[in-house]
Amino acid sequence: KEKFTTASFLKAKAEGRKITMLTAYDYSTAKLLDEAGVDSILVGDSLGMVMLGYENTIKVTIEDIIHHTKAVSRGVNRALIIADMPFLSYHVSVEDTIRNAGRLIKEGGAHAVKLEGGENIIEKVKALIDAQIPVCGHLGLTPQSVNMLGGFKVQGKSVEKAKKIIEDAILLEKAGVFAIVLEAVPEPLAKIITEKVSVPTIGIGAGRYCDGQVLVSQDMLGMFSDFTPKFVKRFRDLGKEIREGVKEYIKEVQEGKFPEEKHTFKMSQEIIDKLKA
Ligand code: KIV
Ligand code: NA
Repeated sequence: KEKFTTASFLKAKAEGRKITMLTAYDYSTAKLLDEAGVDSILVGDSLGMVMLGYENTIKVTIEDIIHHTKAVSRGVNRALIIADMPFLSYHVSVEDTIRNAGRLIKEGGAHAVKLEGGENIIEKVKALIDAQIPVCGHLGLTPQSVNMLGGFKVQGKSVEKAKKIIEDAILLEKAGVFAIVLEAVPEPLAKIITEKVSVPTIGIGAGRYCDGQVLVSQDMLGMFSDFTPKFVKRFRDLGKEIREGVKEYIKEVQEGKFPEEKHTFKMSQEIIDKLKA
């Protein structure tokens, strides 16, 4: 199947086809998602919570993202791989930003990077695109700002704050991003932005009118339950499946039901006799 590229994002919007994106942080999951046909795989800094057990994304390092992106890239054939730039990897200087993003591409194997913010990071976004690194924007709830926002809350509820997000989206579009993730904003605001910009919007908690959707795979598959936002739909309860499977394994081992003969390796009687002698 034809690879999904940054150009495919823009084409999908122009043709009114919804774009699908999910997170993955490892080889096996990435392979499953790619085989299932998801358009894009995000190595999100949500791996801090889901993979590493942190309470937010602040502590995630560029090394963490590179490590997981390497694994994901080995499992993917068709999907476009986007790697998140973690907190403080694009805040210090333009030079720093390009070097860090470059590592996600060259060492990690990502096709594109995602950064949180608008006007405040626009020079960095432009520099990355000048360096031929495709950029996905991220507006609305930007979890790396948790200590400034004072928690994970819906963003853009007032006229002033909603206008700011619209302006940021237009700035990102002008800078040349190939998509913009909109997280936890009211549905009508996401609709306005989606209609105003030519680049596709990818919503998470942003309602029905975005050009595409993204979710954390472990959330939508029921494998992560420390915190479940309102916008998550549980498509499967793999957490339950895993717990039940593991309980069955424990029981069978304890009762001597597993392993069975078919799970064992044989040895010739001749050798057995010599070993016993
Ligand atoms: O890190 C992540 O998983 C994300 C998505 C929630 C958009 O940024
Ligand atoms: Na993220």
